[in-house]
Amino acid sequence: MNNIFKFHLTDIQNVSGQSGWKSPSNIALIKYWGKKDIQIPLNASLSFTLSNCYTDCIVKYEPLKKSSSVCEFKLFFEGKREVSFEEKLNIFFKRIAVYCPYLLDLKLTIETKNSFPHSSGIASSASAYSALSLCVMDIEKKINSKISSEYFFNKASFLSRLGSGSASRSVFGPLAIWGENDFFKKSSNFYAVKYEEKLHDNFKNFQDTVLLVDKGKKHISSTVGHSLMNDHSFSDDRLVQAHKNLTLLNDSLISGDLDTFVSVVETEALTLHAMMMTSSPYYILIKPNTLEIINEIWNFRKNTNYKVCFTLDAGANIHLLYPKENFTVVQEFISNNLSRFCQNGEFINDHVGIGPNKL
Ligand code: DP6
Repeated sequence: MNNIFKFHLTDIQNVSGQSGWKSPSNIALIKYWGKKDIQIPLNASLSFTLSNCYTDCIVKYEPLKKSSSVCEFKLFFEGKREVSFEEKLNIFFKRIAVYCPYLLDLKLTIETKNSFPHSSGIASSASAYSALSLCVMDIEKKINSKISSEYFFNKASFLSRLGSGSASRSVFGPLAIWGENDFFKKSSNFYAVKYEEKLHDNFKNFQDTVLLVDKGKKHISSTVGHSLMNDHSFSDDRLVQAHKNLTLLNDSLISGDLDTFVSVVETEALTLHAMMMTSSPYYILIKPNTLEIINEIWNFRKNTNYKVCFTLDAGANIHLLYPKENFTVVQEFISNNLSRFCQNGEFINDHVGIGPNKL
């Protein structure tokens, strides 16, 4: 039990009401891959918080006649009751009830929807858990109005982490860091923090076009992938590399050095997938069209010198990252060279955002 986020009030008044948050997805530049316990990361990760890919979550709450031993809730996803998601959420609520005991006195109705299509291969766990955790924190704030804004968001990130590790980073924008490390003194393994260095203008409004190579569900979940890092032959080296890449990336974000940025971001993406390909059992999530796109990006960069690069999450889709000033030329490049490798030619234009909004 983490004592900082323990809820101390014992006399909980009956509360009822409604809370709503819109929370974005995020894309890691330094990857979280490998964890112990409940989402304690093996290395620090750093991400861009997105903007157009988000979850809207509304939580209606009313007092139960008698406290329950489990959290009572119903989940409606895009207007329809989703019992299969409720099973996953049960685990989440069980974990967070220790820190949010007031939930056991309430009946919740959760209504959620995503801005991106459900079957797009875009993981919704980061946006979904962060939006829900922020709504839970609204309930806490209603019961205990004394909590500070810092505590509110840190605990929201802490709760999100208990749902899905990467979700902890969605609470802060435009960049967030999660996991203890030597450079960011406020960083923690338990929750993410906002990146507070002075970001060079080159990275303001950075673009992320998500190229939808494969919209199917991946056959190995991230949770299984993380667990395979425990006995991985390259695990120790990977942790050293992640730390080194974090230093390099941080320097480039401050200095505006786009070449270093490109090289660190692509190294991280390829290392993530190299870890999957060399784990035991091994597996591959990228598809032939992922490689086609990567080669197109490398040719384009070589021929034009535009600082366009890619990253990947645990799937086949490509996140194409580039400065805003190159938007028009990159959109032309996507139409001419990349969209033909996307399922139904589909892609989603997104960009770095400032984090969640209350609805
Ligand atoms: C490859 O956060 O989805 O996207 O903590 O088990 O829910 P769990 O895993 P998850 O892992 C995401 C891994 C990644 C890299 C990253 O986002 O840092």
